[in-house]
Amino acid sequence: MIFAGILAGGTGSRMNIADMPKQFLELGDKPIVIHTLEKFLLCERIDEVYVGVHPGWTFHMESLVEKYIKIRRENVHVVAGGTDRNSTIMNIVDSIEERFGKSEEHYIITHDSVRPFLTSRIINDNIDAVLEYKVCDTVIPATDTIVVSEDGRMITDIPVRSKMYQGQTPQSFQMTLLRELYEDLNEEEKGILTDACKIAVVRNYPVYLVKGEPSNMKLTTVSDYNIAQAMVGGKFID
Ligand code: CTP
Repeated sequence: MIFAGILAGGTGSRMNIADMPKQFLELGDKPIVIHTLEKFLLCERIDEVYVGVHPGWTFHMESLVEKYIKIRRENVHVVAGGTDRNSTIMNIVDSIEERFGKSEEHYIITHDSVRPFLTSRIINDNIDAVLEYKVCDTVIPATDTIVVSEDGRMITDIPVRSKMYQGQTPQSFQMTLLRELYEDLNEEEKGILTDACKIAVVRNYPVYLVKGEPSNMKLTTVSDYNIAQAMVGGKFID
């Protein structure tokens, strides 16, 4: 089976424009997380969609599903997220395995709830790639030169731009492999590794690259939110 895992367990501290996590803010006519959820529900290859939400917001998320989701509502499951991004992913994996059992034929397409402009092409390319390679990441080529600084004051290095990419999501995994790689990490590694694909990279497991889109942006700051509102014709925030 193919599952989507939407990561909505964060609090959005860098956006901080309302008394709710950023994924619940309205973008045009509906909350950001609903735009994201709909993209997965429209993909027929996705069997079930799990949303991992901060424990204090599961009731709110369930009420949004009731209000806005008109198709395949029975395929949407809201679960409590974890203290960091990867533990939200693992809580989702636990819930999936509790209900559908463990299987080497289970795959999960994980995606940030705050990337609402994901396309069906990107979802389908992730599904194709994860079925073939077991782990894949969505990236775009870096257009700006990347500058490395160890101390935030002086340049340490300027890597060759043609080898630099910016990581996006989805990040997709064969589920048993993801659990195996995650459980092999010690507590310190679990604390440091905020990126899910890095779990595979540190264990030298090959990760295939799927082409993202510049528009598949993550809404992190107020200015990102205003750009997103312009994209959907909604109102700006000062
Ligand atoms: N996320 C999650 N569980 C966590 C932390 C983050 O599911 N414990 C999710 C967020 O909800 C978001 C995605 O991971 O959809 C990307 O993270 P980021 O943009 O950093 O979100 P926040 O952690 O909410 O933002 P901030 O760092 O500004 O507090």
